[in-house]
Amino acid sequence: MRGLAVFVTLVCLATAQHQALIDYLERRLITIEDRISQWHEQATRYASDLRELKQQMLSQLENLDKEKETLRMNLDNVGTRVDRVERELDYLETQNGAQPCVDVDDKLIEQQVTLVKEKQKAKYSKLSDCSDMISSVKAMKILKRVGGLKGMWSKDASRSSGKVYIFNGTNEDTIHEFASVQDFTRSLGLSLSKDLKLPSAWSGTGHVVYKNHVYYVNQAEEITVVKYDIKNNSVTDSAVFPVQDHVSVYGLTPETLMDLAVDEEGLWAIYATRQNERHISLAKMDSRSLDIEQMWDTNCPRENAEGAFVICGTLYVVYNTKQPGRSRVQCVFDVNDMVTNEDAPLIYFPKRYGAHSSLKYNPQEQLLYAWDDGYQILYKLIMKKKLEI
Ligand SMILES: *[C@@H]1O[C@H](CO)[C@@H](O)[C@H](O)[C@H]1NC(C)=O
Ligand SMILES: *[C@@H]1O[C@H](CO)[C@@H](O)[C@H](O)[C@H]1NC(C)=O
Repeated sequence: MRGLAVFVTLVCLATAQHQALIDYLERRLITIEDRISQWHEQATRYASDLRELKQQMLSQLENLDKEKETLRMNLDNVGTRVDRVERELDYLETQNGAQPCVDVDDKLIEQQVTLVKEKQKAKYSKLSDCSDMISSVKAMKILKRVGGLKGMWSKDASRSSGKVYIFNGTNEDTIHEFASVQDFTRSLGLSLSKDLKLPSAWSGTGHVVYKNHVYYVNQAEEITVVKYDIKNNSVTDSAVFPVQDHVSVYGLTPETLMDLAVDEEGLWAIYATRQNERHISLAKMDSRSLDIEQMWDTNCPRENAEGAFVICGTLYVVYNTKQPGRSRVQCVFDVNDMVTNEDAPLIYFPKRYGAHSSLKYNPQEQLLYAWDDGYQILYKLIMKKKLEI
């Protein structure tokens, strides 16, 4: 019995020990399970975090892509804007060359000027200090094509209000005024312009805009120069040009009986008469009173001439050349006798149509405003001093 009891006790002991072991193991298992489930949770969390992160990265990448795209577009925009600014600068550069005619202070030049002055005293007493002549044409710019084959365009030759005036045709009475060159170039046709209606039609392309006035040639029984105030839309003055038997001044632009020009010294008339039929004549006019101050018969032929302009008292006549698409200054006449045909620079103008229908010099900007086959063109001039060899 005792042995059995011991055995039972042992068994009980063993059972108890076993139970304790099982308990222990269970506890361990539970802890391990707990840990595992924690890890699992953590792992899931990490995984979802990771997913989130990936998602974020992806959307940020997308954003970056989008930003890159906008940046590229912006860059493109900036590129076109830079292009535009460059073009505008280019244009402005052609606008800014305006240098006033400089006093000639070189002693030698002064002596020569005095000599010339003495020689010319009888002829042209108002020798100015303006002594520029053309050296070359630096650049050409086609601004627009508006209007018909023939016409004239310019700014006010005396000041830079910036306004642009379009005289379309050779026998019309309505000027189109643009507030600026920019308005002119971006206008669809003439849509941005204001109309100014003259009291009578102009004849040819000989008009100029000077000191807020339009000077235009009106051909009725006689050739009349009309001075029209742009500010208050009224005729200030008009004068019959005191010459008989006019003929068209340029062989190649028959509509222009008489051409007006403005230079550093004021208003000039370029004309021709039957008495001196083969050559062009020149007159200095007083822009205030329309009186003629002095007249010259030049040695410049009318034949094959398409236009002319005056710079510092020198007449430059442009002729058609044998080479197609080119005109050339081939005759100069200086009222002060300082520039002769031998000194005349080789100046070519490209052209599209048979002849430039007008060439207007702007002394403020040292630009030529040309009308060629309905194209409005600017030529930028480079100047030099007349007595430089
Ligand atoms: C310009 O004038 C011509 C006639 O010389 C005319 O046929 C044309 O319609 C005019 N253009 C404009 C835009 O006024
Ligand atoms: C127009 O203005 C000028 C001054 O700018 C003046 O001399 C002239 O009398 C004015 N004409 C009219 C009709 O108002």
